[in-house]
Amino acid sequence: MSTHHFHSIGEKDILFFQKIIGEPFVLVSQEDRIHYGHDETEDLNFPPDVVLKPSTTKEISEVMKYCFEMNICVTPLGARTGLSGGALAVHGGVGLSMERFNQILEIDEKNLQVHVQPGVITQVLQETVEKQGLYYPPDPSSRGSCFIGGNLAENAGGPHAVKYGVTKDFVLNLEVVLPNGEIIQTGANTLKNSTGYNLTQLMVGSEGTLGIITKAVLKLIPKPKHDILMLVPFSSAERACAAVSAIFRAGITPSALEFMERDAIDWTLKFVDDIQLPIGDEVQAHLLIEIDGNHLDMMMKDCEIIMEVVQEFEAGEILFADDQTQKDKLWKLRRRVGEAVKSNSVYKEEDTVVPRFELPTLLKGVKEIGGRYGFQSVCYGHAGDGNLHINIIKGDLSDEIWTHQLPLAIKEIFELCVQLGGTLSGEHGIGWVQKEYMPISFSQTELTLMRSIKHVFDPKNILNPSKILP
Ligand code: LAC
Ligand code: ZN
Repeated sequence: MSTHHFHSIGEKDILFFQKIIGEPFVLVSQEDRIHYGHDETEDLNFPPDVVLKPSTTKEISEVMKYCFEMNICVTPLGARTGLSGGALAVHGGVGLSMERFNQILEIDEKNLQVHVQPGVITQVLQETVEKQGLYYPPDPSSRGSCFIGGNLAENAGGPHAVKYGVTKDFVLNLEVVLPNGEIIQTGANTLKNSTGYNLTQLMVGSEGTLGIITKAVLKLIPKPKHDILMLVPFSSAERACAAVSAIFRAGITPSALEFMERDAIDWTLKFVDDIQLPIGDEVQAHLLIEIDGNHLDMMMKDCEIIMEVVQEFEAGEILFADDQTQKDKLWKLRRRVGEAVKSNSVYKEEDTVVPRFELPTLLKGVKEIGGRYGFQSVCYGHAGDGNLHINIIKGDLSDEIWTHQLPLAIKEIFELCVQLGGTLSGEHGIGWVQKEYMPISFSQTELTLMRSIKHVFDPKNILNPSKILP
């Protein structure tokens, strides 16, 4: 399975694809191939040989049957906002864009479910169901452009996962085209299901390596009526992290609990340049805390408890957002940290996750490792989930150090995560760029199990090859 002898695409194949899905939806120009050759992972670009834009499950099934037969590799493409290279066509072949699968098929308001195609933009889904008082909570920072299909492939999270769960917690049933073209349903449209192996959850987070999701039945919940948002400054980043688990242990489950190091907020303020936020010199980090619910009086009580807890960690003066505009601004600051860092320097992103209480130890360890290897890092993320995004900044580091020393430093960071009971990725996936680190988290036996699963679904290894497993 490690050798790749894929058939390279020729005129005959293009004609076949044109016949199946229509000429306008088969793209071969250099420009199109480069456009579909990247996601948001670093500056990587792997152009597919051809980009296909099918619009029905049947078309995908026909394409896969053909590619299986011909030994052509296929990389499913969503909105290409991913951060681990899951959508990079690293062996060329077919880039299968799901962008025309953009319909919300049915909002089943009686059962609080939505039937959706994978090319629907996450925020569009959220805003559509909200009109009926419903809520789809998973909200990665890219929600304005990312697709539900990509969220499913990577098991995306986002700030509200801390109270409501990540993408996997909202998936009931999937329609999937297997690498050989067969079409399956993974489960049932039920909240409970103990019927056989859980193929639904096996698909979620499989990064487009096992099958192509063509339809999803997702769970919805009633939209909470109110939310309160506060920004809490700390003079020590480690103390900010330590306050996180204390808040939960005081009996509160915030609907978001985000951490931003000083640099993260400073760089983002510069980057967005339409938000003014005076920050004292002593401030080293912030927690952005949201409480939601239907009863403002109870929510206020929760806020009081949070205020008491953070005082024990020497929090500074808390800013409460007093209207929707201010809430939007604070969320914009948080959601755009990633882009701000990217615009600032070449960087490498790690999506570490540890049990919540270990967060201060992880942060301290990251800074210690950075000190030893001589790199700066900007850390932020979903503190309530113990999910720390570590952005390692190239800055003035030489290419030599960046290429040869950095992987050693990253290895140390991941080893620390695993020692603390954590793992390599909380919500961005392993994809292309983290796969060599998998043995830090898994034994050979465990990796062999995963390889065997891949083989059962994709015996010819044509679907998104060379991802996840080293
Ligand atoms: C965020 C993305 C990078 O949390 O996961 O902003
Ligand atoms: Zn995130």
